Amino acid sequence: MAAAGSAVGLGNIWRFPYITGKYGGAAFLVVYIAVALIIGMSVMLAEMAIGRNAKLDAVGSLRKLGGQGWSIVGWMGFFCAFVILSYYAVIAGWAFAYIFEPFTDTFAMAQQGKAAEMFTSFIGNPVKAISFFLVAIAVTITVIYKGIAGGIEKSCKVLMPALFVILLILIVRALTLPGAGAGLEYYLKPDLSKITAEAVLNAIGQSFYSLSLAMGVMITYGSYVGKDVYLPSTVRSVVLVDTLIAFLAGLVIFPAAFAFGVEPNSGPGLTFITLPAVFAKMPMGKVFCSAFFILLFIAALTSMMSLLEVVVTYSIDQLGWSRPKATIAMGLAITLLGIPSALSQGAMEINIGAKSFLDFADYITNNVVMPIGGLLIAFFVGWRWAESAKNEITDNGQLEFPLYNVWIWVCRVVAPVAIGYVFIKNI
Ligand code: TRP
Repeated sequence: MAAAGSAVGLGNIWRFPYITGKYGGAAFLVVYIAVALIIGMSVMLAEMAIGRNAKLDAVGSLRKLGGQGWSIVGWMGFFCAFVILSYYAVIAGWAFAYIFEPFTDTFAMAQQGKAAEMFTSFIGNPVKAISFFLVAIAVTITVIYKGIAGGIEKSCKVLMPALFVILLILIVRALTLPGAGAGLEYYLKPDLSKITAEAVLNAIGQSFYSLSLAMGVMITYGSYVGKDVYLPSTVRSVVLVDTLIAFLAGLVIFPAAFAFGVEPNSGPGLTFITLPAVFAKMPMGKVFCSAFFILLFIAALTSMMSLLEVVVTYSIDQLGWSRPKATIAMGLAITLLGIPSALSQGAMEINIGAKSFLDFADYITNNVVMPIGGLLIAFFVGWRWAESAKNEITDNGQLEFPLYNVWIWVCRVVAPVAIGYVFIKNI
């Protein structure tokens, strides 16, 4: 449950549709599903097996099982959690703002078919861009500081099914909009000639992001799992649920985007432009809109809590800091890093190369550090730890794992070669 909770978040509802729109729709969807099922699932199983065996955090587990050199993979995870949280909170801040937006004048813009303008005027406002980000990150820091994460996670067991139900209602509404058919075709009718190495690299990055891989999180969760649990089933459920939710989000966004004339490749704003437009066409749309973004914000909050927890745990275990010091110091550092991201989406020109600051932070983690981290984890398990991995998963031969050979060769060859190839091709 915890692993699924960590996996489902903005990655499914915000990032998946916008990346899919950027890399051509249906062709990307096909690649994504293949990558999530083959590479994502294998890396998740590798991480959980490592964690359950070593019973330590990511850096400690890799050091224990592989030696000092491999612990660098844990540090890469620390880096990613730090950078991702800095801009994740920006997007969570947008979700927070959209809880109230329906009750302001701007929602009238969505009703007049100007949802894109509504979004642009929202993120172009530096005060709004910063303050909603600060709310999101401050809530996260407070929850972790006070150690009250448990309560929020419990309420999620009720609230996340509600998010799922609203998503289903939205699908019905989106699919019945005039002009939705073109969006459905864009999302479901693949033109495989559109697949590029860049698209595949993005699919790998997106699958790791969405499944919370290459960050040490699943190693940590693995360390809490009992010996009697059959890890392959756990992993399969998490991957299926996560992929299903992302798929359903696309089923709302693309038909709606085409119905309202929004470009599917309009970037990080895609979800925030199309959804209000859909809500504007529904009875009680304001209420639904607000409710949806409350739930999305809570889903994002649980992800932010666990991202900050990753950073804090590393600081406590590896740097010897106290919990309050680690929470405050790391929380403030992440806040500082997030400010340029928050401003870079329209309020100010803050670019690194051709990318906005937010896009750059996203790119360096998802397309560079995480693919390398995932490659190293697969390689480690495939070549250095295969026997122990088999014993770990089968509980020393007590349980059957018929797909062991498939899995181990995915770790040995398929994942490293696929990731390495698309990575080098992109450079
Ligand atoms: N999987 C999360 C999402 O889809 C984002 C995420 C990536 C994450 N790595 C994480 C969440 C680590 C918690 C912990 O939104």
